[in-house]
Amino acid sequence: MARIPREIIDEIRSRCDIEDVVGSYVSLKRAGSNIKGLCPFHSEKTPSMVVYPSSQSFYCFGCGAGGDVVTFTMKYHNLDYMGAIEYLASRAGISLPQSFEEEDRGVPRKRVYELNLAAARYMRECLFDPQIGGEAMRYLHEERKLSIATIKHFGLGFAPNHPFLMLQHLRGLGFTDDEMRAGYIEAISTKTQKPYSIFRNRVMFPIIDTSGNVIAFGGRVMDDSKPKYLNSSDTPAFKKSRNLFALNFAKGNCAERMILCEGYMDVIALHAAGYPFAVATLGTAITSEQARLMTKYTKQVIITYDSDEAGQKATDRAMKILGEVGMDVRVLSMSGAKDPDEYIKKYGAGQFTKLIDESRRGFYYKMNVILAGHDVNIADEKIRAADEISTVIAEFESGVEREVYTDAAAKNLNIPHDVLKNDVERKRKRRIRSEKSKEAQDARMSARGIGDKVNPDAARYFAANVAEETILGLLLEFPEHRAAVVSGKVELAADDFVTALGRRIFEATMELEGSEGGFDYALMGESFTPDEMGRMQKMMRMRRELSENGLPVLIDSIERLKAEGEKAKAKSSGDRLAAIEARRRELAKKKEENT
Ligand code: CTP
Ligand code: MN
Repeated sequence: MARIPREIIDEIRSRCDIEDVVGSYVSLKRAGSNIKGLCPFHSEKTPSMVVYPSSQSFYCFGCGAGGDVVTFTMKYHNLDYMGAIEYLASRAGISLPQSFEEEDRGVPRKRVYELNLAAARYMRECLFDPQIGGEAMRYLHEERKLSIATIKHFGLGFAPNHPFLMLQHLRGLGFTDDEMRAGYIEAISTKTQKPYSIFRNRVMFPIIDTSGNVIAFGGRVMDDSKPKYLNSSDTPAFKKSRNLFALNFAKGNCAERMILCEGYMDVIALHAAGYPFAVATLGTAITSEQARLMTKYTKQVIITYDSDEAGQKATDRAMKILGEVGMDVRVLSMSGAKDPDEYIKKYGAGQFTKLIDESRRGFYYKMNVILAGHDVNIADEKIRAADEISTVIAEFESGVEREVYTDAAAKNLNIPHDVLKNDVERKRKRRIRSEKSKEAQDARMSARGIGDKVNPDAARYFAANVAEETILGLLLEFPEHRAAVVSGKVELAADDFVTALGRRIFEATMELEGSEGGFDYALMGESFTPDEMGRMQKMMRMRRELSENGLPVLIDSIERLKAEGEKAKAKSSGDRLAAIEARRRELAKKKEENT
């Protein structure tokens, strides 16, 4: 542990105030001495995340996320511990020692950027070399109708149809095979054990982040073979779920609105046609991280997915996810073409502006889908359509929106406004009631440790876990209790802990306590996941809120834990005996069957 110099952690913590860092992503409001905001880690409408400036920590009462500024950064940006340290250091303008970056990560992120840039350059040269990339150029330029300027603008390339030509070139530039494997450029053949290029005989689309780093690639075949696209998997430099294709170009053009498409080719066609505010996800359905990322750059997202059934499903999902982050969502409907690329080729660039202007708020799109599925001249069908539409309207939080949509729906269905409105409000009340009771049930379950993913042993050893959380809360929060354990004033060892998580926390705490500089919660982040850090935060908070935290509480809890530990041992040896007995019976039965 503690591979990261303590001074660096201290420096980061003193320069990255938790209120500032959290506040740059979440809008925070003061409530007494604490600060509250909407938790970015689960969807909620009333704030349940509290930021505690005094202890430089946060805790969400809704989902249990919690920790310090590093934990928050890890969770929010989906980074590992090292990544979060690097991120915060660069945010605060602290330079990290070179050795530290290189030692602590198999392959540093920066190195993968360099590798990707070199690979992108090489593949661009291949595309422009008629000997190697002649066919690829014909495909992009003639078949897909991309201008040379567009091909250059997007940095498109061609991966030669050769098992290791690209690897050889990159080795010549000083990249090692380890680095190329970490960067998803090279793989090892399971048959021959030899390295080979992952991307071969494909036209290549580099994926570039908003700082201009080449972070990954997508590659398309030039015929009907499968898979049509191959995308980089996650690497030290890349997470699919939190990047968008062409955001590097769109970011300066999308303040008013952004177009979200399904494919790389759609985005390229739109940019070339004068809509430089289009982006696409990277071969996956949109994630809430991507939705949050969009909120940093734009107010409105226009979904223009393919018009087939899969596209409609994806549209529904995207509407929901974007709605949850508060985005103004519109849906563009196209007829006569399956996607924007085809539409622009068929009808010309100018026509697309009309579609953008006609794109409708998500509700109208949904209503039209429902209306199209029912013949409202038939009474039964009309009732069903009204039922489906009122369910959709009931989902909206804003009373004004419900009112306006009810009005539109009533007109479309030709039924009195108030009749529909009654249905909507009844459904809304029912939904709120069932959400509340689900919340209450979740709370009951989690109070019993059922469904606890952070500490899976908690449900089985409920009483032991309660004692452990008390003990660990006291040790984490109060130096005098740690001292009592070190000096042997109270007897407590790792083996006394029943749950695996409890044992790990205890061991790490005492190891740090014994190290030079002593215990520091911030240093725990290196060995525990953000969710585990959140759990520790909960233990500490529980103690802080109670007035009695003296030695007798510690001693009493240790006694309880030891007693529970005995029971747990009996229980598991009992389980073992039962298992042996069951097996014996099974064997006897088999024997009987055989004779
Ligand atoms: N995709 C993928 N892997 C596949 C198929 C698709 O990752 N095997 C992703 C790609 O990001 C692709 C998007 O899904 O851009 C949309 O797929 P599709 O509509 O099939 O491709 P288009 O982008 O329309 O490509 P084209 O116009 O060349 O057919
Ligand atoms: Mn498509």
